[in-house]
Amino acid sequence: MISRFATALAAFCLLLTVPASAQKKGDAAKGKEVYEQCGVCHAHATDEKKLGPSLKGLYKKAKMHNGKDANDTNVIDIIKKGGNGMPGFEEILEGDELVNLIAYLKTL
Ligand code: HEC
Repeated sequence: MISRFATALAAFCLLLTVPASAQKKGDAAKGKEVYEQCGVCHAHATDEKKLGPSLKGLYKKAKMHNGKDANDTNVIDIIKKGGNGMPGFEEILEGDELVNLIAYLKTL
């Protein structure tokens, strides 16, 4: 009886926490729209090199072109600051656009 209650309580807590954490992690569907600004220079479905390297499997790569690990900090750094032909998006992305974009990049 007690364990059933505990299970129900755990499930209830999960219901409460999931939407909040999902929001924090960003919305990949919305991030896809943001990505349209990147698609001119970056392929996402193939390994094709456009102006910039393909972002397919970005987060599965051991290292990015600049030799740094493909993690949130380093990817966000590139997106914000740009460099080597990549424009900086710090002034362009607003609100949740960056977190949503990162969520989308993780699906590639
Ligand atoms: C005008 C073309 C252009 C646009 C637009 C652009 N990029 Fe880039 N991007 C580049 C180039 C060129 C590089 C390669 C820089 C280098 O080699 O150091 C690059 C590199 C990157 C890298 C590093 C990839 C790796 O494997 O090392 C990431 C991540 C990235 N861009 C993400 C984005 C995102 C996200 C957007 C949209 C917000 C975007 N880029 C828009 C040209 C562009």
